[in-house]
Amino acid sequence: MAILVTGGAGYIGSHTARLLRELGRDVVVLDSLERGYKDAVGDIDLVVGDIADARLVGKTCRKYDVDSVIHFAAYKAVGESVSDPLRYYQNNVAGSIALVEALLEHDVKQIVFSSSAAVYGTPDASPVNEDAPLRPQSPYAQTKADIEKFLESCDVLGMRSVSLRYFNAAGAHDSGDMGEDWSATENLVPVVMKVLFGAQRELDVFGDDYPTPDGTCVRDYVHVSDLADAHVKALDYLASGGASLVCNVGTGQGTSVRQLISVAESVAGRALPHRVAPRRAGDPAAVYADPTLMRAVRGWRATRDLREIIASAYRWHERHPDGYER
Ligand code: WQD
Repeated sequence: MAILVTGGAGYIGSHTARLLRELGRDVVVLDSLERGYKDAVGDIDLVVGDIADARLVGKTCRKYDVDSVIHFAAYKAVGESVSDPLRYYQNNVAGSIALVEALLEHDVKQIVFSSSAAVYGTPDASPVNEDAPLRPQSPYAQTKADIEKFLESCDVLGMRSVSLRYFNAAGAHDSGDMGEDWSATENLVPVVMKVLFGAQRELDVFGDDYPTPDGTCVRDYVHVSDLADAHVKALDYLASGGASLVCNVGTGQGTSVRQLISVAESVAGRALPHRVAPRRAGDPAAVYADPTLMRAVRGWRATRDLREIIASAYRWHERHPDGYER
């Protein structure tokens, strides 16, 4: 019996596949390698192809005796989703529908889905729990909300699912040999790393006049290895007969941009050049999770703090200044 990890050559997918392997589980990765990296998969079996390729998915399910799936494969750039919505709906939504159809045909009926706190848009208040209204503010976020709903509808077909709404994923594997590709993201931690390692001159702090303690935006940064662990626990929850669930994955701790800068400076032992820039459109002032529900899923909790997030990302970029090879 194997676990199929779609998008397992991407950032969170590769950390999860690695953790499953470390736990002695049978894993197979399905990834198109369009945005993922072969090196991130290591020696785990990799099937190169598309989630919408029903024949390939079927063949993989048979060959590896797949009984459950963690579904990461998706595009995730918010800005690109605004300029190219067709691509996002096609790949993320239509791709997920085709995948689930092929899985059902092969009697694979447990799926953990990589969703996002982006489905909440600008929440009325933080901490945010799962009952907060969904107000996706980009085509990207809308595709995540749509797939969650689609999976909920598939319950009637016997497909049980856990959709994990990640807050701000960051950090890298303890080994220093797996991490995030900073060329493909504008997220805060990778940008901080670019500045620390001289690939960008300075960090723009997007606004310091928000109604937060120090005026900069507050987010919930969760270590990628804690996220990986959440997927394993969600799989085990489904395997033990758990009902479908939608769950936040965050630490419950809010961190401001200024606080993060100061931790980064302390980890690096040098100043992080930065300046205050105008607010970025659509940025909510403060978003952090109420992680109570996820704690009930096999006792999950985040075990790594912000310092470990920054230190692990630093280690990865220091050892791999050019990231993975193409
Ligand atoms: C964090 C904070 C910025 C860059 C996004 C997606 C969301 C989710 C996670 C996947 C904000 C500030 C950032 C910079 C800055 N992804 N910042 N200077 O916007 O909370 O969430 O990533 O699902 O969908 O929207 O993350 O890392 O972009 O920003 O000041 O150069 O850092 O204003 O307050 P965000 P982020």
